[in-house]
Amino acid sequence: MRFDVLTLFPDMFRHVLGESITGRAQEKGLLVINPIDIRDFTSNKHRKVDDYPFGGGKGMVMTAQPIYDAYMSIVKELDYKPKLIYMSPQGRPLTQKLAIELKEEKHLILLCGHYEGIDERVIEEIVDMEVSIGDYVLTGGELPAMVLIDCISRLVPGVLPSEEAYSEESHFNGLLEYPQYTRPYEFNGKKVPDVLLSGHHANINKWRREQSLKRTLQKRPDLVEGNKELQEEIKKLKLY
Ligand code: ADE
Repeated sequence: MRFDVLTLFPDMFRHVLGESITGRAQEKGLLVINPIDIRDFTSNKHRKVDDYPFGGGKGMVMTAQPIYDAYMSIVKELDYKPKLIYMSPQGRPLTQKLAIELKEEKHLILLCGHYEGIDERVIEEIVDMEVSIGDYVLTGGELPAMVLIDCISRLVPGVLPSEEAYSEESHFNGLLEYPQYTRPYEFNGKKVPDVLLSGHHANINKWRREQSLKRTLQKRPDLVEGNKELQEEIKKLKLY
């Protein structure tokens, strides 16, 4: 899968996503993460990318031209149109469901804003979707873009060792993940639950399912509230 990122800080992407799982996936050719410096597309000699807002007000606004030209430099090489996502606190909230949807795209372009925002006309011109990583405001779209890339990338076949690695985990099936244990058997007087040592897979799966339900009910009741099937299952198992 390919990600092009329009940003004023391309090195942030190389440093962070060049490490660990996303770094290895790039080496293997499973991911292409290509940060593009918007400043390289300025048409003024000072490489200025922002200006004062019309109508007054605080801060600076990113100008349309370098963003548009950076975008055009990507799409003019292609015979298809990749989705362009603008990272913005006004966007659709990032959830596991949205990540699963977006992993189907072979190519995404992400746009990272800075300062007080971006000239609305370039947003109207090139943006297909806005995505927010939460109801808080960050200094720029770079961290949100990295969160989005990380979240989608680990769903791309081959990036994680096996599909099981993510089909079991929190949020994949609308539940939080069950607790995990490894050696030693006893730590600070606490033992691993016996069922996990029983070798009885049906019982282990049943225990894990119950733990998932219990945890979700306890830590994130909002995830259960909107789901009739889960509520039924919880009632049947008397987990209330
Ligand atoms: N840019 C600034 N804050 C953001 C957020 N919460 N999500 C996405 N992009 C942002």
